[in-house]
Amino acid sequence: MNLVNYNFDKMTNRFGTNSYKWDVGSKELPMWVADMDFETSPEVIEAFQRRLDHRIFGYTSVPDAYYEAVAQWWDRRHHFHVHHEWIMFCTGVVPAISSIVRKMTTAGDNVLVLAPVYNIFYNSIVNNQRNVLVSELVYSEHTYSINFDDLEEKLAAPETTLMIFCNPHNPIGKVWDNDDLQKAGNLCIKHNVLILSDEIHCDLTHLGYRYTPFASVSEEIAQHCITCVAPTKAFNLAGIQSSSIIVPNPGLRALVNRGINTDEAAEPNAFAIEAAISAFTEGEPWLNALLSYLMENRQLLEHLIASQLPELEVIHSEATYLAWIDCRAVTRDTKALCEYLRKETGLYVSEGSMFGGNGSTFLRMNYACPKARLEDGLRRFAEGVKAFQSLQIPANRS
Ligand SMILES: Cc1ncc(COP(=O)(O)O)c(C=O)c1O
Repeated sequence: MNLVNYNFDKMTNRFGTNSYKWDVGSKELPMWVADMDFETSPEVIEAFQRRLDHRIFGYTSVPDAYYEAVAQWWDRRHHFHVHHEWIMFCTGVVPAISSIVRKMTTAGDNVLVLAPVYNIFYNSIVNNQRNVLVSELVYSEHTYSINFDDLEEKLAAPETTLMIFCNPHNPIGKVWDNDDLQKAGNLCIKHNVLILSDEIHCDLTHLGYRYTPFASVSEEIAQHCITCVAPTKAFNLAGIQSSSIIVPNPGLRALVNRGINTDEAAEPNAFAIEAAISAFTEGEPWLNALLSYLMENRQLLEHLIASQLPELEVIHSEATYLAWIDCRAVTRDTKALCEYLRKETGLYVSEGSMFGGNGSTFLRMNYACPKARLEDGLRRFAEGVKAFQSLQIPANRS
């Protein structure tokens, strides 16, 4: 592992780059949306540079080398054998999800999600006139689990035709294990509900943990499952519009392929292919170094919160660079807390209610940034929470 060659401490400046995350005031510190403040891997930059040096950017096709790079990555890194023909290029995981919702379900159907979950799932469902059906995750002893009785009841409803699953799960950082995947998958099969598994965060599984691709659990589940993956989260290429949809079942694959083509989401821009191939074939040392750095950041965050704000609880996480922080001892509604933090300290974090479920007492903090910036953010956080607390009637008396 080569931490020397990759300088994650570099204080990057993203102001003036049309960064969605950094569209904030000059004194503000954004630690919200899920992209990182690190430069991407030098191998990806070199691949982009070679493409740039060609100086012509025409319509782009998907070469065999793309399928090879994706398949080999999953084989090597995740021990999941993906056949080339299972893979379809798509311009992003969210475009894929929306397209699959449109193609594989009918207006008025229920689409099930396990909440709290990535907020854009709700948009993909509601914007396509389907109903969101929530099976709320059970939160107990500072950890989340699936309520299988509730899940089954909801999958059994005749209107439920699709489950959108998140593995690893944003925002709670959970890597679902084989048993959970098997149980949930078998329930979907029993009730004829299609599985769409968004696995975009899989390459951000923390060192020492192992992610299990949903489709790898059994042949029966593989035949019932559509998986969305991308290099963009782990290699900090969000916005490059590069993802893959993996569908082992040929009948389902033909339908999904029709859907993304109808939606004009199946063709890459001039950099999308280079991004995936270079990340998956040359980016592994950089990714390993990143994961080490992120682990140090997480330890710093957990240590600071435990020592300065012991009434808050950072939920144990096995993946992602997002801390999901339980603030129930301070407030029942983190919207007000997050607004206060932004106004008084400039720190911009995500309030939990947007993720549904029990999110309203949580907030989400993105710690994928140079340590000096993280220290600044944590300082603002501690000061802001303490000041907010001093204004509150204690939660247990409200
Ligand atoms: C679970 C999940 N899926 C998808 C995305 C976005 O995917 P894309 O940029 O490929 O549309 C995100 C971004 O945060 C995410 O957290």
